[in-house]
Amino acid sequence: MVIETDILIIGAGVAGLSTAIKIADANPSSEILILTKTHKQESNTRWAQGGIATVWDFSQDNFEKHIADTLDAGDGLCDEEIVKIVVEEGHERVKEIIDWGARFDKEENGHYDLGKEGGHTENRILHYKDITGWEILRSLIAKAKTYNNITIKEHFFAIEIITQHHMGHYVTRLTPDIQCYGVYVLNKEDDHINTILAKSTVMCTGGGGQVYRNTTNPTIATGDGIAMMYRACGRIVNMEFVQFHPTALFNPQGENPDFLISEAVRGEGAVLKTIDGKTFMEKYDDRLSLAPRDIVARAIDKEIKTRGDEFVYLDCNQIDAETITHHFPNIYEKCKSLGIDILKGDMIPVIPACHYMCGGIWTDQYGRTSIKNLYAAGECTSSGLHGANRLASNSLLEGLVFGHRVADIINQQLPSLTLLKNEILNWDADGTTHPNEMVLLTQSWKELKEIMSNYVGIVRTNTRLKRALDRIHLLYTETEQLYQNTVVSPQLCELRNLITIAYMVTKSAQIRKESRGLHFNTDYPERLDYLETVWM
Ligand code: SIN
Repeated sequence: MVIETDILIIGAGVAGLSTAIKIADANPSSEILILTKTHKQESNTRWAQGGIATVWDFSQDNFEKHIADTLDAGDGLCDEEIVKIVVEEGHERVKEIIDWGARFDKEENGHYDLGKEGGHTENRILHYKDITGWEILRSLIAKAKTYNNITIKEHFFAIEIITQHHMGHYVTRLTPDIQCYGVYVLNKEDDHINTILAKSTVMCTGGGGQVYRNTTNPTIATGDGIAMMYRACGRIVNMEFVQFHPTALFNPQGENPDFLISEAVRGEGAVLKTIDGKTFMEKYDDRLSLAPRDIVARAIDKEIKTRGDEFVYLDCNQIDAETITHHFPNIYEKCKSLGIDILKGDMIPVIPACHYMCGGIWTDQYGRTSIKNLYAAGECTSSGLHGANRLASNSLLEGLVFGHRVADIINQQLPSLTLLKNEILNWDADGTTHPNEMVLLTQSWKELKEIMSNYVGIVRTNTRLKRALDRIHLLYTETEQLYQNTVVSPQLCELRNLITIAYMVTKSAQIRKESRGLHFNTDYPERLDYLETVWM
Protein backbone atom coordinates (compact mmCIF):
# COMPACT_ATOMS: atom_id res chain seq x y z
CA MET A 1 0.00 0.00 0.00
CA VAL A 2 1.19 3.52 -0.71
CA ILE A 3 0.32 6.22 1.84
CA GLU A 4 0.82 9.90 1.05
CA THR A 5 1.22 12.69 3.55
CA ASP A 6 2.66 16.18 3.69
CA ILE A 7 4.88 15.63 6.71
CA LEU A 8 6.03 12.30 8.08
CA ILE A 9 7.43 12.17 11.60
CA ILE A 10 9.02 8.95 12.84
CA GLY A 11 8.86 8.71 16.62
CA ALA A 12 6.38 10.11 19.15
CA GLY A 13 8.58 11.41 21.94
CA VAL A 14 9.14 15.03 22.94
CA ALA A 15 10.90 15.93 19.65
CA GLY A 16 8.38 14.24 17.35
CA LEU A 17 5.28 15.54 19.08
CA SER A 18 6.50 19.10 19.44
CA THR A 19 7.51 19.21 15.76
CA ALA A 20 4.05 17.93 14.80
CA ILE A 21 2.20 20.42 16.99
CA LYS A 22 4.16 23.39 15.63
CA ILE A 23 3.56 22.39 12.00
CA ALA A 24 -0.10 21.56 12.57
CA ASP A 25 -0.65 24.92 14.21
CA ALA A 26 0.99 26.99 11.48
CA ASN A 27 -0.35 24.92 8.57
CA PRO A 28 -3.90 23.80 9.37
CA SER A 29 -4.40 22.44 5.85
CA SER A 30 -1.31 20.21 5.95
CA GLU A 31 -1.43 16.54 6.92
CA ILE A 32 1.03 15.37 9.53
CA LEU A 33 1.54 11.68 10.10
CA ILE A 34 3.43 10.42 13.15
CA LEU A 35 4.59 6.81 13.24
CA THR A 36 5.46 4.96 16.40
CA LYS A 37 6.64 1.38 16.45
CA THR A 38 4.75 0.44 19.62
CA HIS A 39 2.15 2.71 21.19
CA LYS A 40 2.17 6.44 21.71
CA GLN A 41 2.73 6.29 25.43
CA GLU A 42 6.08 4.54 24.89
CA SER A 43 9.22 6.46 23.97
CA ASN A 44 12.54 7.35 25.54
CA THR A 45 10.91 10.59 26.70
CA ARG A 46 8.50 8.70 28.92
CA TRP A 47 11.36 7.24 30.93
CA ALA A 48 13.11 10.52 31.71
CA GLN A 49 12.91 10.90 35.47
CA GLY A 50 14.99 13.85 36.63
CA GLY A 51 13.58 16.76 34.72
CA ILE A 52 14.18 19.48 32.19
CA ALA A 53 17.01 21.96 32.71
CA THR A 54 16.27 25.60 32.05
CA VAL A 55 17.22 28.90 33.64
CA TRP A 56 14.20 29.86 35.70
CA ASP A 57 15.22 31.82 38.79
CA PHE A 58 16.95 34.80 37.19
CA SER A 59 17.87 36.23 40.59
CA GLN A 60 20.38 33.37 41.05
CA ASP A 61 20.94 31.94 37.61
CA ASN A 62 21.46 33.20 34.08
CA PHE A 63 21.88 31.85 30.54
CA GLU A 64 25.66 32.34 30.66
CA LYS A 65 25.96 29.92 33.60
CA HIS A 66 23.83 27.26 31.92
CA ILE A 67 25.85 27.68 28.72
CA ALA A 68 29.12 27.39 30.66
CA ASP A 69 27.97 24.22 32.47
CA THR A 70 26.88 22.63 29.17
CA LEU A 71 30.21 23.48 27.51
CA ASP A 72 32.15 22.22 30.53
CA ALA A 73 30.36 18.84 30.46
CA GLY A 74 30.76 18.62 26.66
CA ASP A 75 34.56 18.66 27.08
CA GLY A 76 35.47 20.79 24.08
CA LEU A 77 33.21 19.20 21.48
CA CYS A 78 30.02 21.25 21.83
CA ASP A 79 29.02 23.70 19.12
CA GLU A 80 28.88 26.94 21.12
CA GLU A 81 26.31 28.52 18.84
CA ILE A 82 23.96 25.54 19.27
CA VAL A 83 24.44 25.54 23.05
CA LYS A 84 23.50 29.23 23.13
CA ILE A 85 20.42 28.62 20.96
CA VAL A 86 19.16 25.72 23.08
CA VAL A 87 19.76 27.40 26.43
CA GLU A 88 18.26 30.76 25.41
CA GLU A 89 15.29 29.50 23.37
CA GLY A 90 14.72 26.63 25.79
CA HIS A 91 13.24 28.97 28.39
CA GLU A 92 10.46 30.05 25.97
CA ARG A 93 9.80 26.47 24.92
CA VAL A 94 9.38 25.34 28.52
CA LYS A 95 6.97 28.22 29.18
CA GLU A 96 5.03 27.09 26.14
CA ILE A 97 4.55 23.51 27.36
CA ILE A 98 3.48 24.85 30.74
CA ASP A 99 0.81 26.84 28.86
CA TRP A 100 -0.18 23.60 27.10
CA GLY A 101 -0.70 21.90 30.45
CA ALA A 102 2.63 20.38 31.54
CA ARG A 103 2.86 20.37 35.33
CA PHE A 104 6.03 20.84 37.36
CA ASP A 105 6.36 20.56 41.13
CA LYS A 106 6.13 23.74 43.16
CA GLU A 107 7.24 24.73 46.64
CA GLU A 108 4.76 25.84 49.28
CA ASN A 109 5.35 29.49 48.30
CA GLY A 110 4.13 28.71 44.77
CA HIS A 111 7.55 28.97 43.13
CA TYR A 112 8.80 26.08 41.06
CA ASP A 113 10.90 23.60 43.03
CA LEU A 114 14.15 23.77 41.07
CA GLY A 115 16.35 20.69 41.43
CA LYS A 116 20.05 20.28 40.86
CA GLU A 117 21.92 17.52 39.03
CA GLY A 118 25.53 16.63 38.26
CA GLY A 119 27.54 19.32 36.46
CA HIS A 120 24.99 22.10 37.11
CA THR A 121 26.27 25.04 39.13
CA GLU A 122 22.73 26.25 39.93
CA ASN A 123 19.33 24.78 40.73
CA ARG A 124 17.56 24.83 37.37
CA ILE A 125 15.83 21.47 36.91
CA LEU A 126 12.06 21.66 36.60
CA HIS A 127 10.57 18.32 37.48
CA TYR A 128 7.30 16.53 38.08
CA LYS A 129 7.95 14.13 40.97
CA ASP A 130 10.35 11.54 39.50
CA ILE A 131 8.39 11.06 36.26
CA THR A 132 9.01 14.31 34.39
CA GLY A 133 9.26 12.67 30.97
CA TRP A 134 5.93 10.95 31.47
CA GLU A 135 4.28 14.27 32.41
CA ILE A 136 5.72 16.14 29.43
CA LEU A 137 4.64 13.34 27.12
CA ARG A 138 1.14 13.36 28.62
CA SER A 139 0.78 17.09 27.97
CA LEU A 140 2.15 16.86 24.42
CA ILE A 141 -0.11 13.95 23.48
CA ALA A 142 -3.10 15.87 24.84
CA LYS A 143 -2.10 18.97 22.87
CA ALA A 144 -1.50 16.95 19.67
CA LYS A 145 -5.01 15.47 19.98
CA THR A 146 -6.48 18.95 19.64
CA TYR A 147 -5.31 19.15 16.01
CA ASN A 148 -7.31 17.20 13.49
CA ASN A 149 -4.47 17.36 10.97
CA ILE A 150 -2.19 15.19 13.16
CA THR A 151 -2.58 11.43 12.84
CA ILE A 152 -0.61 9.02 15.00
CA LYS A 153 -0.23 5.50 13.61
CA GLU A 154 0.83 2.99 16.24
CA HIS A 155 2.71 -0.27 15.59
CA PHE A 156 4.23 1.08 12.36
CA PHE A 157 7.91 0.23 12.21
CA ALA A 158 10.05 2.30 9.81
CA ILE A 159 12.53 0.11 7.95
CA GLU A 160 14.31 2.18 5.30
CA ILE A 161 14.57 5.77 4.15
CA ILE A 162 13.46 6.05 0.52
CA THR A 163 16.02 7.84 -1.64
CA GLN A 164 17.05 7.87 -5.32
CA HIS A 165 18.41 4.39 -4.60
CA HIS A 166 14.78 3.18 -4.65
CA MET A 167 14.27 4.69 -8.09
CA GLY A 168 17.05 2.54 -9.47
CA HIS A 169 19.89 5.10 -9.10
CA TYR A 170 23.28 4.34 -7.69
CA VAL A 171 23.72 6.17 -4.35
CA THR A 172 26.97 6.19 -2.37
CA ARG A 173 28.37 8.24 0.51
CA LEU A 174 29.87 10.52 -2.16
CA THR A 175 26.54 11.26 -3.88
CA PRO A 176 26.17 15.02 -3.29
CA ASP A 177 22.40 15.49 -3.33
CA ILE A 178 20.73 12.51 -1.72
CA GLN A 179 17.00 13.17 -1.35
CA CYS A 180 14.46 11.63 0.99
CA TYR A 181 11.03 10.82 -0.43
CA GLY A 182 9.60 8.99 2.58
CA VAL A 183 10.13 5.60 4.20
CA TYR A 184 9.24 1.94 3.85
CA VAL A 185 7.29 0.89 6.92
CA LEU A 186 6.29 -2.46 8.35
CA ASN A 187 2.75 -2.48 9.68
CA LYS A 188 3.18 -4.79 12.65
CA GLU A 189 -0.52 -5.57 12.76
CA ASP A 190 -0.82 -7.09 9.28
CA ASP A 191 2.89 -7.70 8.52
CA HIS A 192 2.68 -5.71 5.29
CA ILE A 193 5.31 -3.28 4.15
CA ASN A 194 3.87 0.08 3.13
CA THR A 195 5.48 2.82 1.12
CA ILE A 196 4.91 6.17 2.83
CA LEU A 197 5.65 9.19 0.66
CA ALA A 198 6.10 12.60 2.27
CA LYS A 199 7.16 16.09 1.23
CA SER A 200 9.37 16.24 4.33
CA THR A 201 10.35 13.50 6.76
CA VAL A 202 11.52 14.08 10.33
CA MET A 203 13.51 11.44 12.24
CA CYS A 204 12.80 11.52 15.99
CA THR A 205 13.60 7.92 16.79
CA GLY A 206 15.69 8.29 19.97
CA GLY A 207 18.84 6.40 20.87
CA GLY A 208 20.04 2.82 20.92
CA GLY A 209 20.81 1.97 24.54
CA GLN A 210 19.58 -1.58 24.01
CA VAL A 211 22.94 -2.37 22.46
CA TYR A 212 24.28 -2.76 26.02
CA ARG A 213 23.46 -5.38 28.65
CA ASN A 214 22.62 -2.80 31.29
CA THR A 215 20.60 0.15 30.09
CA THR A 216 18.00 2.52 31.45
CA ASN A 217 16.52 2.81 27.94
CA PRO A 218 13.26 1.04 27.11
CA THR A 219 13.34 -2.05 24.89
CA ILE A 220 12.32 0.07 21.89
CA ALA A 221 15.63 2.00 22.02
CA THR A 222 17.28 0.13 19.16
CA GLY A 223 18.86 3.01 17.24
CA ASP A 224 16.51 2.59 14.27
CA GLY A 225 16.76 6.14 12.88
CA ILE A 226 20.54 6.34 13.14
CA ALA A 227 20.95 2.94 11.50
CA MET A 228 18.52 3.83 8.68
CA MET A 229 20.44 7.06 8.14
CA TYR A 230 23.70 5.10 7.93
CA ARG A 231 22.25 2.77 5.32
CA ALA A 232 20.89 5.74 3.37
CA CYS A 233 24.46 7.13 3.26
CA GLY A 234 23.68 10.13 5.50
CA ARG A 235 26.14 11.88 7.78
CA ILE A 236 26.51 10.54 11.32
CA VAL A 237 28.95 11.91 13.91
CA ASN A 238 30.56 11.21 17.28
CA MET A 239 29.06 7.78 17.92
CA GLU A 240 31.76 6.83 20.44
CA PHE A 241 30.23 9.14 23.04
CA VAL A 242 27.84 6.85 24.89
CA GLN A 243 26.67 8.15 28.25
CA PHE A 244 26.48 5.72 31.15
CA HIS A 245 24.24 6.88 33.95
CA PRO A 246 26.11 6.28 37.21
CA THR A 247 23.14 5.06 39.21
CA ALA A 248 20.84 2.38 37.84
CA LEU A 249 19.29 0.13 40.46
CA PHE A 250 21.26 -3.10 40.88
CA ASN A 251 18.64 -5.82 40.72
CA PRO A 252 20.19 -9.28 41.25
CA GLN A 253 17.31 -10.85 39.30
CA GLY A 254 18.13 -8.68 36.31
CA GLU A 255 15.58 -6.56 34.46
CA ASN A 256 15.37 -4.82 31.13
CA PRO A 257 15.44 -1.86 31.22
CA ASP A 258 17.39 -1.27 34.40
CA PHE A 259 15.47 0.98 36.76
CA LEU A 260 16.96 4.47 36.96
CA ILE A 261 17.78 6.10 40.27
CA SER A 262 17.60 9.71 39.17
CA GLU A 263 20.59 11.96 39.54
CA ALA A 264 18.17 14.29 41.29
CA VAL A 265 18.50 11.96 44.30
CA ARG A 266 22.17 12.91 44.52
CA GLY A 267 21.07 16.49 43.85
CA GLU A 268 19.09 16.29 47.10
CA GLY A 269 22.15 15.07 48.99
CA ALA A 270 22.47 11.28 48.54
CA VAL A 271 26.06 10.06 48.69
CA LEU A 272 27.86 7.21 46.91
CA LYS A 273 29.60 4.65 49.11
CA THR A 274 31.39 1.36 48.66
CA ILE A 275 29.79 -1.78 50.09
CA ASP A 276 31.69 -1.31 53.36
CA GLY A 277 30.07 2.10 53.78
CA LYS A 278 33.04 4.32 52.82
CA THR A 279 32.74 7.36 50.57
CA PHE A 280 35.05 7.32 47.55
CA MET A 281 34.20 10.22 45.24
CA GLU A 282 36.74 12.48 47.03
CA LYS A 283 39.44 10.45 45.23
CA TYR A 284 38.04 11.47 41.85
CA ASP A 285 36.51 14.96 41.83
CA ASP A 286 35.94 17.95 44.11
CA ARG A 287 32.27 17.93 43.19
CA LEU A 288 32.02 14.48 44.82
CA SER A 289 28.82 12.53 44.07
CA LEU A 290 27.52 15.42 41.95
CA ALA A 291 30.43 15.57 39.50
CA PRO A 292 29.48 15.21 35.80
CA ARG A 293 28.29 11.76 34.81
CA ASP A 294 31.35 10.59 32.92
CA ILE A 295 33.50 11.15 36.00
CA VAL A 296 31.06 9.51 38.44
CA ALA A 297 30.39 6.51 36.18
CA ARG A 298 34.13 5.91 35.66
CA ALA A 299 34.76 6.22 39.40
CA ILE A 300 32.06 3.64 40.19
CA ASP A 301 33.37 1.33 37.46
CA LYS A 302 36.88 1.59 38.93
CA GLU A 303 35.72 0.92 42.50
CA ILE A 304 33.60 -2.06 41.45
CA LYS A 305 36.40 -3.60 39.38
CA THR A 306 39.20 -2.92 41.87
CA ARG A 307 37.26 -4.23 44.85
CA GLY A 308 35.57 -7.08 42.99
CA ASP A 309 32.13 -5.91 44.11
CA GLU A 310 28.93 -6.11 42.09
CA PHE A 311 27.66 -2.61 42.94
CA VAL A 312 28.18 0.46 45.08
CA TYR A 313 25.64 1.98 47.43
CA LEU A 314 23.71 5.22 47.24
CA ASP A 315 23.12 6.41 50.77
CA CYS A 316 19.95 8.53 50.96
CA ASN A 317 19.97 9.03 54.72
CA GLN A 318 20.75 12.73 54.31
CA ILE A 319 17.41 13.29 52.53
CA ASP A 320 14.34 13.96 54.67
CA ALA A 321 11.36 11.60 54.46
CA GLU A 322 9.06 14.29 53.04
CA THR A 323 11.39 14.88 50.06
CA ILE A 324 11.69 11.15 49.41
CA THR A 325 7.97 10.50 49.37
CA HIS A 326 7.05 13.66 47.45
CA HIS A 327 9.90 14.09 45.01
CA PHE A 328 10.79 10.42 44.49
CA PRO A 329 7.63 8.38 45.06
CA ASN A 330 8.32 5.90 42.26
CA ILE A 331 11.94 5.35 43.21
CA TYR A 332 10.85 4.80 46.80
CA GLU A 333 8.17 2.28 45.80
CA LYS A 334 10.41 0.43 43.36
CA CYS A 335 13.16 0.02 45.97
CA LYS A 336 10.61 -1.07 48.54
CA SER A 337 9.31 -3.73 46.15
CA LEU A 338 12.82 -5.22 46.24
CA GLY A 339 13.02 -5.08 50.02
CA ILE A 340 15.05 -1.85 50.16
CA ASP A 341 13.32 0.64 52.45
CA ILE A 342 15.00 4.03 51.98
CA LEU A 343 12.93 5.57 54.76
CA LYS A 344 14.24 2.98 57.19
CA GLY A 345 17.85 3.79 56.28
CA ASP A 346 18.51 1.07 53.66
CA MET A 347 21.05 2.14 51.06
CA ILE A 348 20.30 1.57 47.36
CA PRO A 349 22.66 -0.76 45.46
CA VAL A 350 23.53 0.91 42.14
CA ILE A 351 25.56 0.26 38.98
CA PRO A 352 26.27 2.39 35.91
CA ALA A 353 24.06 1.63 32.90
CA CYS A 354 23.96 2.89 29.33
CA HIS A 355 21.66 5.89 29.31
CA TYR A 356 22.11 8.21 26.34
CA MET A 357 23.83 8.45 22.95
CA CYS A 358 25.48 11.83 22.42
CA GLY A 359 26.43 10.97 18.85
CA GLY A 360 23.99 10.42 16.03
CA ILE A 361 22.59 11.96 12.87
CA TRP A 362 24.42 15.18 12.10
CA THR A 363 22.06 18.18 12.05
CA ASP A 364 22.46 21.91 11.54
CA GLN A 365 20.78 24.74 13.48
CA TYR A 366 17.38 23.86 11.98
CA GLY A 367 17.61 20.11 12.33
CA ARG A 368 18.48 19.70 8.65
CA THR A 369 20.44 16.51 7.97
CA SER A 370 22.86 15.80 5.11
CA ILE A 371 19.92 14.28 3.16
CA LYS A 372 17.54 16.70 1.48
CA ASN A 373 13.98 16.85 2.86
CA LEU A 374 15.04 14.78 5.84
CA TYR A 375 15.21 16.46 9.25
CA ALA A 376 16.03 15.05 12.67
CA ALA A 377 15.58 16.07 16.29
CA GLY A 378 16.18 14.62 19.74
CA GLU A 379 18.45 11.82 20.89
CA CYS A 380 18.93 10.32 17.43
CA THR A 381 20.86 13.46 16.47
CA SER A 382 24.21 14.97 17.17
CA SER A 383 23.21 18.62 17.02
CA GLY A 384 26.31 19.98 18.72
CA LEU A 385 24.58 20.55 22.07
CA HIS A 386 26.09 17.68 24.03
CA GLY A 387 29.59 17.39 22.55
CA ALA A 388 31.55 14.63 24.26
CA ASN A 389 29.21 14.38 27.27
CA ARG A 390 25.63 15.50 27.83
CA LEU A 391 24.81 17.67 30.81
CA ALA A 392 21.99 16.11 32.86
CA SER A 393 18.44 17.10 31.93
CA ASN A 394 19.49 18.95 28.77
CA SER A 395 17.93 16.39 26.43
CA LEU A 396 14.22 17.12 26.89
CA LEU A 397 15.14 20.77 26.35
CA GLU A 398 16.96 19.90 23.12
CA GLY A 399 13.92 17.94 21.91
CA LEU A 400 11.63 20.93 22.46
CA VAL A 401 13.97 23.52 20.94
CA PHE A 402 14.78 21.46 17.85
CA GLY A 403 11.16 20.34 17.46
CA HIS A 404 10.30 24.04 17.20
CA ARG A 405 13.18 24.84 14.85
CA VAL A 406 12.52 21.91 12.50
CA ALA A 407 8.86 22.93 12.36
CA ASP A 408 9.88 26.53 11.68
CA ILE A 409 11.96 25.67 8.62
CA ILE A 410 9.42 23.15 7.30
CA ASN A 411 6.64 25.70 7.73
CA GLN A 412 8.59 28.16 5.58
CA GLN A 413 9.26 25.60 2.86
CA LEU A 414 6.02 23.64 2.79
CA PRO A 415 4.27 25.72 0.09
CA SER A 416 7.04 25.00 -2.39
CA LEU A 417 7.43 21.27 -1.63
CA THR A 418 5.91 18.53 -3.78
CA LEU A 419 5.38 14.81 -3.38
CA LEU A 420 7.29 12.51 -5.66
CA LYS A 421 4.99 9.76 -6.88
CA ASN A 422 5.08 6.88 -9.38
CA GLU A 423 8.84 6.58 -9.66
CA ILE A 424 9.43 4.83 -6.33
CA LEU A 425 9.84 1.08 -6.42
CA ASN A 426 7.62 -0.89 -4.10
CA TRP A 427 9.22 -3.07 -1.43
CA ASP A 428 10.46 -6.29 -2.98
CA ALA A 429 9.98 -9.35 -0.74
CA ASP A 430 10.32 -11.90 -3.56
CA GLY A 431 12.24 -15.04 -2.69
CA THR A 432 12.11 -14.51 1.08
CA THR A 433 10.75 -17.14 3.46
CA HIS A 434 9.51 -17.08 7.04
CA PRO A 435 12.34 -17.64 9.54
CA ASN A 436 11.95 -20.95 11.37
CA GLU A 437 14.40 -20.17 14.17
CA MET A 438 13.54 -16.82 15.71
CA VAL A 439 15.58 -17.90 18.72
CA LEU A 440 18.72 -17.23 16.68
CA LEU A 441 17.84 -13.53 16.67
CA THR A 442 17.46 -13.52 20.44
CA GLN A 443 20.80 -15.25 20.85
CA SER A 444 22.56 -12.81 18.53
CA TRP A 445 21.09 -9.85 20.41
CA LYS A 446 22.32 -11.27 23.71
CA GLU A 447 25.77 -11.84 22.23
CA LEU A 448 25.86 -8.29 20.91
CA LYS A 449 25.00 -6.89 24.34
CA GLU A 450 27.79 -8.93 25.93
CA ILE A 451 30.33 -7.81 23.34
CA MET A 452 29.46 -4.13 23.77
CA SER A 453 29.33 -4.30 27.56
CA ASN A 454 32.57 -6.24 27.92
CA TYR A 455 34.67 -4.48 25.31
CA VAL A 456 33.14 -1.09 24.45
CA GLY A 457 31.88 0.07 27.85
CA ILE A 458 32.97 2.85 30.17
CA VAL A 459 36.69 2.07 29.89
CA ARG A 460 38.08 0.96 26.54
CA THR A 461 41.41 -0.35 25.22
CA ASN A 462 42.71 -0.96 21.71
CA THR A 463 42.66 -4.72 22.24
CA ARG A 464 39.08 -4.72 23.49
CA LEU A 465 37.89 -2.56 20.60
CA LYS A 466 39.56 -4.81 18.04
CA ARG A 467 38.07 -7.90 19.68
CA ALA A 468 34.62 -6.26 19.64
CA LEU A 469 34.87 -5.32 15.96
CA ASP A 470 35.86 -8.87 14.95
CA ARG A 471 32.88 -10.31 16.79
CA ILE A 472 30.45 -7.66 15.55
CA HIS A 473 31.57 -8.45 12.01
CA LEU A 474 30.56 -12.09 12.43
CA LEU A 475 27.14 -11.13 13.80
CA TYR A 476 26.75 -8.66 10.93
CA THR A 477 27.46 -11.30 8.29
CA GLU A 478 25.06 -13.81 9.82
CA THR A 479 22.28 -11.25 10.27
CA GLU A 480 22.61 -9.78 6.77
CA GLN A 481 22.28 -13.26 5.32
CA LEU A 482 19.12 -13.76 7.31
CA TYR A 483 17.82 -10.35 6.23
CA GLN A 484 18.34 -11.15 2.54
CA ASN A 485 16.54 -14.47 2.74
CA THR A 486 13.74 -14.10 5.26
CA VAL A 487 10.56 -12.10 5.54
CA VAL A 488 11.22 -8.87 7.42
CA SER A 489 10.20 -8.88 11.08
CA PRO A 490 10.56 -6.15 13.74
CA GLN A 491 12.96 -8.38 15.70
CA LEU A 492 15.21 -8.87 12.70
CA CYS A 493 15.17 -5.15 11.85
CA GLU A 494 15.96 -4.18 15.43
CA LEU A 495 18.85 -6.60 15.63
CA ARG A 496 20.19 -5.36 12.31
CA ASN A 497 19.93 -1.75 13.50
CA LEU A 498 21.68 -2.51 16.77
CA ILE A 499 24.52 -4.26 14.96
CA THR A 500 24.96 -1.10 12.88
CA ILE A 501 24.96 1.02 16.06
CA ALA A 502 27.49 -1.32 17.70
CA TYR A 503 29.71 -1.10 14.65
CA MET A 504 29.60 2.70 14.53
CA VAL A 505 30.23 3.11 18.28
CA THR A 506 33.16 0.69 18.21
CA LYS A 507 34.72 1.93 14.99
CA SER A 508 34.42 5.58 16.08
CA ALA A 509 35.98 4.65 19.43
CA GLN A 510 38.84 3.04 17.54
CA ILE A 511 39.34 6.10 15.36
CA ARG A 512 39.48 8.51 18.31
CA LYS A 513 43.03 8.20 19.56
CA GLU A 514 42.56 10.23 22.73
CA SER A 515 40.36 10.21 25.84
CA ARG A 516 37.71 12.88 26.16
CA GLY A 517 34.32 13.20 27.79
CA LEU A 518 32.53 9.87 27.70
CA HIS A 519 35.21 8.14 25.65
CA PHE A 520 38.06 6.78 27.75
CA ASN A 521 40.73 4.57 26.19
CA THR A 522 43.56 3.55 28.54
CA ASP A 523 45.90 3.26 25.54
CA TYR A 524 45.35 6.96 24.82
CA PRO A 525 44.61 8.52 28.24
CA GLU A 526 45.41 12.10 27.16
CA ARG A 527 42.97 14.62 25.74
CA LEU A 528 44.37 15.74 22.37
CA ASP A 529 42.67 17.75 19.66
CA TYR A 530 40.58 15.30 17.66
CA LEU A 531 37.32 16.86 16.62
CA GLU A 532 34.38 15.00 15.10
CA THR A 533 34.45 11.35 14.09
CA VAL A 534 32.34 11.41 10.96
CA TRP A 535 30.47 8.86 8.88
CA MET A 536 29.84 10.78 5.69
C1 SIN B 1 18.13 11.44 35.77
O1 SIN B 1 17.05 11.62 36.27
O2 SIN B 1 19.15 11.22 36.40
C2 SIN B 1 18.21 11.46 34.29
C3 SIN B 1 18.19 12.82 33.78
C4 SIN B 1 18.88 12.88 32.47
O3 SIN B 1 19.40 11.88 32.00
O4 SIN B 1 18.97 13.97 31.89
